[in-house]
Amino acid sequence: MTNTRPTVAVLGTGIIGTAIARNLARDDFAVRAWNRTRDKAEALTADGVIATDSPADAVTGADIVLTALNDGPRVLAAVKAAAPALRPGTVWVQISTVGVDAIDELAALARELDLVLIDAPILGTKGPAEQGQLVVLAAGAPASRDVVQPLFDTIGRRTVWVGDDAAAGSATRLKLVLNSWVLVLTHGVGEALALAKGLDVDPQLFLDLIEGGPLDTGYLRLKSAAIISADYTTSFSVDNAHKDATLILQAADHAGVHMDVVAAGADRFQRASQQGHGAEDMAATYFASFDK
Ligand SMILES: NC(=O)c1ccc[n+]([C@@H]2O[C@H](COP(=O)([O-])OP(=O)(O)OC[C@H]3O[C@@H](n4cnc5c(N)ncnc54)[C@H](OP(=O)(O)O)[C@@H]3O)[C@@H](O)[C@H]2O)c1
Repeated sequence: MTNTRPTVAVLGTGIIGTAIARNLARDDFAVRAWNRTRDKAEALTADGVIATDSPADAVTGADIVLTALNDGPRVLAAVKAAAPALRPGTVWVQISTVGVDAIDELAALARELDLVLIDAPILGTKGPAEQGQLVVLAAGAPASRDVVQPLFDTIGRRTVWVGDDAAAGSATRLKLVLNSWVLVLTHGVGEALALAKGLDVDPQLFLDLIEGGPLDTGYLRLKSAAIISADYTTSFSVDNAHKDATLILQAADHAGVHMDVVAAGADRFQRASQQGHGAEDMAATYFASFDK
């Protein structure tokens, strides 16, 4: 049978890019992947992914380019490096969390290279990405939706289209609002459990106290389990969370909105990173409550 699925170039196979590339390959997309640390792309060859040496190699012959790098400057650099091999009209699905300032630069590059940019940040972390259960927040030209929807249906359980113009950054702005909530929850869990330790309170007493009531959340259960078991296996790193806090603060500043809690949280992530927890899961904000 002829493979009629598009060829997708995945630029960046970190936690999220790895899961996405693997799911696309398993769902019969032809996948070509590039990663700065080649080993991570190489690890996907067992799933049928072709590991390449450069962004330009990866995008050669691709119908869709998907960027999953840590921030805007890295995304910009990778697509610029790929430029000589990009065909005009190629669809560029940009899922990294880059913030509102970077959207302008990425949209300008897309115009310059004649790419169809889809601003498509995601809700969901390592587990949902591996299970193809992400939620995609998407903005981009309606004419391109038929091209990207099968890809979104493979990597996610739901796509929420929030705009027709990627350059307007509506999906990215929604993502920042969402992440402000996620970050506050994470610090809340970390601080409550740190206070319990400091006051010699069994954290389980606190968790049992609120179980099933309006103060309980699935997220509290998830992150408190990580902290109590001292398992900081990374779903979303402290350093990437710090990057997102900074993006939220920049966007809020432009909008004249004070984000005191996110600002304090950014300091906590920075402190945890300086303590050596930068690559660990952001639940390691817990450590920022202690001097060492
Ligand atoms: N993990 C999550 O839960 C989650 C959820 C939603 C959105 N996101 C967003 O998705 C994006 C990827 O997240 P992730 O968790 O997959 O991050 P990650 O595991 O830290 O991967 C980051 C990627 O960026 C690459 N990179 C970093 N610095 C680079 C540089 N200087 N030059 C070239 N490549 C560089 C890394 O390459 P190396 O492997 O060589 O370091 C890797 O491919 C981020 O924007 C993040 O905010 C993540």
